[in-house]
Amino acid sequence: MTKLEKSISTSKTDLYRLLNTQIKSLLANERDFIANAANFCSLIYHTMPDLNWIGFYIHKNGKLFLGPFQGKPACIRIEIGKGVCGKAAEIQKTVVVENVHEFPGHIACDPQSNSEIVIPIIHENDLIGVLDLDSPVLGRFDAEDQTGLEVLVQSFITLTDCT
Ligand code: SME
Repeated sequence: MTKLEKSISTSKTDLYRLLNTQIKSLLANERDFIANAANFCSLIYHTMPDLNWIGFYIHKNGKLFLGPFQGKPACIRIEIGKGVCGKAAEIQKTVVVENVHEFPGHIACDPQSNSEIVIPIIHENDLIGVLDLDSPVLGRFDAEDQTGLEVLVQSFITLTDCT
């Protein structure tokens, strides 16, 4: 690892550590899902660089429905298995897409988006929904983002009523 790569990776780790501390304090006095999801998105959207969209899709009646988000208006319903969100919901694992234009079935909501990461939200073995982040930068999300965001989602689940 070069010195530059090391400093970039250290600062990303620091950013996720800071975000996790801030999320724990932001959600500490409230357990309502919509309220906490809205503040969770706002904090991340205004802290992380190079994002053009972040939001929740909530699992209801066998589909994903648009929940609290930051960014431009987005598609409302996504079938399980469709697009990046539906794929992450189906396999119940994080999906990282370096170039959304090469992802079969990608659902384009904002033409500015070039890369994407979707983290499933699972509580007591039930799929509650997914967290979706989009970026105009190709290859914006890496393994460190995956780990960092999975920790943030875990803090959200712990501090929020998910049923
Ligand atoms: N691109 C997503 C759809 C949601 S938007 O990005 C907000 C997908 O392919 O599932």
